[in-house]
Amino acid sequence: MTDADTRRHWGPDYDVLRQVDPEIAAAIADEITRKQESLQLIASENFTSPAVLAAQGSVMTDKYAEGYPGRRYYGGCEFVDVAERLAIERATAIFGAEHANVQPHSGAQANMAAYYALGVNDGDTVMAMSLAHGGHLTHGSPVNFSGKWFDIVGYGVRKDDELIDMDDVRELAAEHRPKVIVAGYTAYPRHVEFAAFRQIADEVGARFMVDAAHIAGLIAGGAHPSPVGDADAVTFTTHKTMRGPRGGTILCTEEHRKAVDKAVFPMLQGGPQMHAIAGKAVAFREAQQPAYTEYVHSVVDNASALADGLADEGLRIVSGGTDIHYLLADVTPLGLTGAEAEQRCEQAGIALNKNAIPYDQNPPMVASGIRVGTPSVTTQGMGVDDMRTVASLIARALRGDDAAGVRDDVRELAVAHPIYGLQPSVG
Ligand SMILES: Cc1ncc(COP(=O)(O)O)c(C=O)c1O
Repeated sequence: MTDADTRRHWGPDYDVLRQVDPEIAAAIADEITRKQESLQLIASENFTSPAVLAAQGSVMTDKYAEGYPGRRYYGGCEFVDVAERLAIERATAIFGAEHANVQPHSGAQANMAAYYALGVNDGDTVMAMSLAHGGHLTHGSPVNFSGKWFDIVGYGVRKDDELIDMDDVRELAAEHRPKVIVAGYTAYPRHVEFAAFRQIADEVGARFMVDAAHIAGLIAGGAHPSPVGDADAVTFTTHKTMRGPRGGTILCTEEHRKAVDKAVFPMLQGGPQMHAIAGKAVAFREAQQPAYTEYVHSVVDNASALADGLADEGLRIVSGGTDIHYLLADVTPLGLTGAEAEQRCEQAGIALNKNAIPYDQNPPMVASGIRVGTPSVTTQGMGVDDMRTVASLIARALRGDDAAGVRDDVRELAVAHPIYGLQPSVG
């Protein structure tokens, strides 16, 4: 991209930064070019709007505001209080939740705070999806606080249909009597039976927590059933389908309000990042618009179309399809591992990630599958017809012939759909 293109995408801040720190300005300009000229199919990423970027790049970054609106440990908080109150009001309104804490710096920190607020202490039992079947690092990985401090019981999916086995969940819960049961995943492309989880949690006296990091935006826009009402606490990241700044949020019932607020601050965090909270407020406002509802439905339609297209190209779609914003595809029918598939796509300008599939025979760093998500390309304005093209580009990249030709075709499709400065904000 030319300098003029970069300035058009980025605005006046580009010139200021270029004068002060040309190396960082160049790195950011290169990142814009990389994103614009390749396809972003990483399920956990999106393109935030110029309005979110503006709020996040604002002077609110300077403000210390330990505490909560109206009850801060610092003076001068009246305007950051406006931002945080708006973020809380909008989050509770969107999800119909009794309380929202918008301060977690990330999804991982939101999860840590939610565990603590729901009474999980060192040595307590937590039940969550095993990582090999789609759970997240914070659901019990041995290298994460969750695996190191908690006694983790992992549930999984059935081998035949690759869907969660609720009978298995019930049996495990009855046997291990966990303090908390977690639903919500990193790599499970189907709807979850939240009410059935709630019932099982009640049967064994457990709390029920939903990690909606991935699906929050779909829930906000009505393209996915909501766990609010079934779960004691729902955590989510604001930067995936929510299309906001990086960060986390916790929704909870009135019963857990105090415990959640105390767990975030002062238990786990110090000063909240007020610029990120302002950005979250903007993203929540955007999520209340009809255009966002249309957007998330189209994200889901695109993921289904892409799954169909990849199945036609000879990949095996895990669980036979998807209900959400990404699909998992087994690439072994093409004679590839997930790592090889990721690398071939990378060479063709297609960014996606290798992923373990259920009952994977390969180690996680090799894996047998790929995870392919549609939030970013849908923000760029691509629709189901484009997904047919994307499926064929992925298939050509995987087959490994004519990498340069595929790269050219990828670039042509990507640049025809501008990433920054054009997506609607509000109104
Ligand atoms: C299900 C789930 N929970 C939590 C997280 C953690 O979010 P963060 O990277 O913001 O800590 C992720 C991130 O990918 C996730 O997929």
